[in-house]
Amino acid sequence: MSEPLRIGIAGLGTVGASVARILKSKSNSLSHKCGRPITVTGVSARDRSKDRGVELSGIDWFDTPSALAASPNIDVFVELVGGDSGPALDSIRAAIESGRHVVTANKALLAKHGVELALLAEEKGLILNYEAAVAGGIPVIKTMRESLAANDATRVYGILNGTANYILTRMESDELSFEECLVEAQRLGYAEADPTFDVEGFDTAHKLAILTSLAFGTQVAADEIYIEGISNISLSDIHAARELGYRIKLLGVAQRTATGIEQRVHPTMVPLGSMIGQVDSVTNAVGIEADTVGSLLLSGPGAGGDATASAVIGDIADIAKSRPGRQEAPVFGRPADELEPYQRAEISTHAGGYFIRMTVHDRIGVFASLAGHMAENGISLASIVQHGSVKNGVDEPKTVVLVTHETTELHIRTALDAVLEDGHLVSKPQVIRIEPAG
Ligand code: HSE
Repeated sequence: MSEPLRIGIAGLGTVGASVARILKSKSNSLSHKCGRPITVTGVSARDRSKDRGVELSGIDWFDTPSALAASPNIDVFVELVGGDSGPALDSIRAAIESGRHVVTANKALLAKHGVELALLAEEKGLILNYEAAVAGGIPVIKTMRESLAANDATRVYGILNGTANYILTRMESDELSFEECLVEAQRLGYAEADPTFDVEGFDTAHKLAILTSLAFGTQVAADEIYIEGISNISLSDIHAARELGYRIKLLGVAQRTATGIEQRVHPTMVPLGSMIGQVDSVTNAVGIEADTVGSLLLSGPGAGGDATASAVIGDIADIAKSRPGRQEAPVFGRPADELEPYQRAEISTHAGGYFIRMTVHDRIGVFASLAGHMAENGISLASIVQHGSVKNGVDEPKTVVLVTHETTELHIRTALDAVLEDGHLVSKPQVIRIEPAG
């Protein structure tokens, strides 16, 4: 058997501790699969005395990730520190400088510095693997980077944040408020350190930016993503969606259009009977539409220590099986210096169906105003539902839900501005895009 592959792990939080534990408990089967042993030789974490449920005696401790990255006693630097710059970025740069392969789960860092790091790694003939950065335990990076070489993608979309999906699922199943579900997600350890990353769509956007680059061969462009989160989704939206045959999911979607590539993250109506509509709780799913294979949907656990460690260890095993001097798959599926500049398609040109929930004053002319402004903007209505109640003999405001056929965002916004101007609405309308989904 060949020499052991020596691993340095920076960050011993939930994922890092799982990686160290599983590398130990599965050392026999891993060395058989890879043709060589995999041994953790160095770690870096803040607190040396903390019990992490894994035996770390005999392993070198380093005070900083960068010191570990430069150690001559490691072959692979595993970055599980987190953060889009600072120690995570410095240590990955140091590892590449020192000729170490890198494995990271850090989507925020790759969304910001992925192309720069890919250029550095490829220049030195080193591997930069990041399966755990997108959709936790789902092997979507390897699928897109390697297995779909025969394809040109047209659309990639997915449920990429377990916390948001957990919240939407619990709100629906248990009739709970958004806030109650968020507290529960945090208690279960799904949420990011700053949960606004999960619920306001930024975590999904980081992951989408990486998938977009893999799908379309473009430079990672996380700052060019249209983002809306789920914090203003109410039980009323969830009930209305269900009544009309939809469920609400936080999706990240990237698709090629006539004007460029659309990247958007927002609450989305997906058909109740679609496969992605059945993806519940912390489970993630990624749909890929491509010319040769057709449509794929991969689903699995998107968060949690062991599921994420599974992806990290898969990346480590790939490095263990690689052979010096052999050309590895480029980081983003094509050499980093050949990635094309990203050309943004604006959200105003987005074409699709829309769900619009409005609270209206109960008076003559409301429907005429709604229908008139929709018609003026060439918007065809697929359905209209009205709900309301009469309390103490006084008419209460009514809820009206419209579903449109395909139109553009610009037409919807223009029509709704005109409806608002007419003064029939009690509050701003809730607008949720409808996505065709497998
Ligand atoms: N907070 C993330 C999620 C963890 O909920 O999906 C994985 O990125």
